[in-house]
Amino acid sequence: MNVRAAPSDTRFSMRERMAMYTDNALKIGLFGANCSSGRAVTLVPERWTGNWEDNLQLARMADDAGIEFMLPVGRWKGYGGDTDYMGTTLETITWATGLLAQTKRLIVFGTVHAPLFHPLIAAKQFVTADQVGEGRFGLNIVVGWNEDEFQMFGVTQREHDARYDYAQEWLDAIKMAWGPQEDFDFDGQYIKLKKVRAKPKPFGGARPLIMNAGASPTGRAFAIRNCDAFFTNASRTSMEDNAQRVKEAKEEARSQGRELDVYTVGVVTCRPTQKEAEEYYRYATIENGDWSAVDGILAKKNISVATVGEEEFQRQRHHYAHGMGGLLMVGDPDRIAQTLADLSRAGLRGIGFSFVNYLNELPYFCDEVLPRLERMGVRQRRR
Ligand SMILES: Cc1cc2nc3c(=O)[nH]c(=O)nc-3n(C[C@H](O)[C@H](O)[C@H](O)COP(=O)(O)O)c2cc1C
Repeated sequence: MNVRAAPSDTRFSMRERMAMYTDNALKIGLFGANCSSGRAVTLVPERWTGNWEDNLQLARMADDAGIEFMLPVGRWKGYGGDTDYMGTTLETITWATGLLAQTKRLIVFGTVHAPLFHPLIAAKQFVTADQVGEGRFGLNIVVGWNEDEFQMFGVTQREHDARYDYAQEWLDAIKMAWGPQEDFDFDGQYIKLKKVRAKPKPFGGARPLIMNAGASPTGRAFAIRNCDAFFTNASRTSMEDNAQRVKEAKEEARSQGRELDVYTVGVVTCRPTQKEAEEYYRYATIENGDWSAVDGILAKKNISVATVGEEEFQRQRHHYAHGMGGLLMVGDPDRIAQTLADLSRAGLRGIGFSFVNYLNELPYFCDEVLPRLERMGVRQRRR
């Protein structure tokens, strides 16, 4: 791990930012901790509070353990159900800034809806977070999909592909504000800025890491064109498919003269035995799922028996109950470590995952899974 003294004149390259300042082949992150219930749509009493105290404790624990990043979910309104799933959320840029102030190595992302933040205010917020974190802020750009949330702001959603056209201008304007020029005009189709002054700049001479998780052809093209980290779904059944998908995305980026890392997301239930892990998964996610919240999420995505048929509807219900999608990993430490090592060998640079209760479950993961990953050669012992 490249541990830094942190004088303000330290210079970091984009390569070091992309490596998240560690030599680990597989970067590990925690996903969704800024929201109540995290990514588990469950009624169990130990479900995640999402409150500041728990987030801070979690970030310090992750920082000490050498976990590379925390990635929040940008959510403004809960999904209802018995728990009002994700109904209580910490705003992600201020959340990230607070965590960066209290950690030493962790990369903390903000997940930002481009249409809801003026680009110059956003650019300055990101710079401020990056200065506080001495080069450890990352930006997850999202364009939004949830009509309800946008109504709340009085903002009308654009048609799907136009959301990415807007996001392109938004990001171009932000990059100009981050760049060396101190005065500029920006004359886009959507965004027009006159006589801009933007100081200070991001910390240490390189800009924050940028990620996106577009899944449509337009979203994927946006990520490949603009991002350092492309988050995409990984297959549970075929590591060959994963390897192929990673290879294609990296080659496409390279053909545009860019380097791109590919990441994925998942959900981990790790217990001493396979049987215990499966029992807990069944207890938390199936028997005590907040199914009315799951059905609310599906309705927003227009997934119903009428639109997709009974079999697919049931499949999607289970998929959304465990963290709204992502790779489901349920097992003993050997099984979990093997899956993570397989993802690394398929070319994935990292994974962000969630637990039902991050604080209760992370210590066991760090004690049992991280040493296995070190022995398997995909991570190094933290120095
Ligand atoms: C890792 C990951 C994180 C995401 N975070 C958010 C989020 O916090 N808020 C949001 O509105 N969408 C989020 N999304 C949705 C994506 O940004 C994207 O809109 C979605 O994958 C659909 O792709 P498309 O926009 O190309 O249709 C996330 C998706 C993934 C896989």
